[in-house]
Amino acid sequence: MAVDLLLGLQWGDEGKGKIVDVLTKNYDVIARFQGGPNAGHTLEFDGIKHVLHTIPSGIFHDNATNVVGNGVVIDPVVFKKELENLEPFNIDFRSKLLISRKAHLILPTHRLLDAASEAVKGKAKIGSTLKGIGPTYMDKTGRNGIRVGELELSTWKKTYRSLADKHEKMIAFYDVAIEYDLKSLEAEFFEAVEYIKQLEFIDSEEYLHQTQKSGKSILAEGAQGSLLDIDFGTYPFVTSSNTTAAGACTGLGVAPNKIGEVFGIFKAYTTRVGSGPFPTELFDQDGETMGRVGNEFGSTTGRSRRCGWLDLVALKYAVQVNGVTQLMMMKGDVLSGFEKLKVCTSYNYNGKVIEHLPYSILEENVTPMYKEFAGWKEDLTQLTAENELPENFMNYVLFLEKELEVPISIISVGPDRKQTIHR
Ligand code: GDP
Ligand code: IMO
Ligand code: MG
Repeated sequence: MAVDLLLGLQWGDEGKGKIVDVLTKNYDVIARFQGGPNAGHTLEFDGIKHVLHTIPSGIFHDNATNVVGNGVVIDPVVFKKELENLEPFNIDFRSKLLISRKAHLILPTHRLLDAASEAVKGKAKIGSTLKGIGPTYMDKTGRNGIRVGELELSTWKKTYRSLADKHEKMIAFYDVAIEYDLKSLEAEFFEAVEYIKQLEFIDSEEYLHQTQKSGKSILAEGAQGSLLDIDFGTYPFVTSSNTTAAGACTGLGVAPNKIGEVFGIFKAYTTRVGSGPFPTELFDQDGETMGRVGNEFGSTTGRSRRCGWLDLVALKYAVQVNGVTQLMMMKGDVLSGFEKLKVCTSYNYNGKVIEHLPYSILEENVTPMYKEFAGWKEDLTQLTAENELPENFMNYVLFLEKELEVPISIISVGPDRKQTIHR
């Protein structure tokens, strides 16, 4: 069977975790393909909210096996905490959670390097989650990284030592004071490594290949969003992996001709955490309302998310780059009560009107141009069917569907699993 793909179309936090959880009943395997503990995927059901960072969002379903793919970077310390948080829920990790031997490890010194790199940038910092993502992917592409499979070798601590020593020299090279106690960070790291060794390490590309061959279904779960992609995002204010559809091929070992549906998740407005350009960002009461009603605080770092109107120029770009076949619109409920809504339909780019995402969307180059929509007052959070949705809300949805030329198959009206309208 083909591998379906689910990914974020904006700057992350679109609601991917919720939708993976909603869709897991249709799949045998859920597989994360990139990113690491920079991700925070929220799932809500039975009155409990769960935030997952590295563990795929299918973990709460009995039917599904969850795979952490080769494209993911794993911090054993964060991973152990995640597993411990799930202890009360009696999940059989030994059989339900498999880890690729080719996934790279985030070392404590990767986190320190992330902090040093950000500190030295000062005002120009990326606003990284400080989870060590950039330095770990740098070591991967620099061919210095340590992979999960290395932990099965008796020599792994020696390999670790030589890389950590090199990192210490690099930290010293940065002209910033980073205080740390490597001994205690390492003690925590080694303990976490022993803990995660309880799980099964696999040759994940082979496992996924055999899964497909036997007719089972796979959903690939993306992290971050298309505008944070290392190639197609707002570079350098991006993450260090390919968050777009192609990343699922390299991050799982799935061939492009085996990809089926591509589910693109987007919010009815836009948010961004960290630095970088954001043409439709709001600094007024409307932005404040979106943040407050939408509870827009980072699931990983707790930072306030910047909020703004929906940017259709950027969304069209993400739909194209990913080959999205179905859209899922999240958080429309947050917009209830706005008198008027705006959608950015084109940019004034250095005096010229354009409808595509240009090389740079810095404020000095781009002024967003908007189309206005009448708002709706109704509370959407208790609605369960399309025909109950207010007319003005549906006008908004139908406009987006027409512009994006892709059907919106799910409308989410609240954080809970049940607050999901299938069309
Ligand atoms: P992810 O990283 O894409 O999985 O998204 P996050 O979990 O970081 O952020 C999405 C936030 O919005 C979480 O707090 C979700 O519980 C919440 N959420 C998801 N869908 C909806 C929705 O339709 N309405 C509202 N109000 N909240 C939602
Ligand atoms: P999920 O999967 C939102 C952002 C950071 C920063 C930039 C680089 O929950 O959608 P990094 O730590 O990757 O080096 O940070 O990317 N970022 C995210 N923003 N959601 C995420 O993940 C993110 N992961 C990273 O805020 O601007
Ligand atoms: Mg998130």
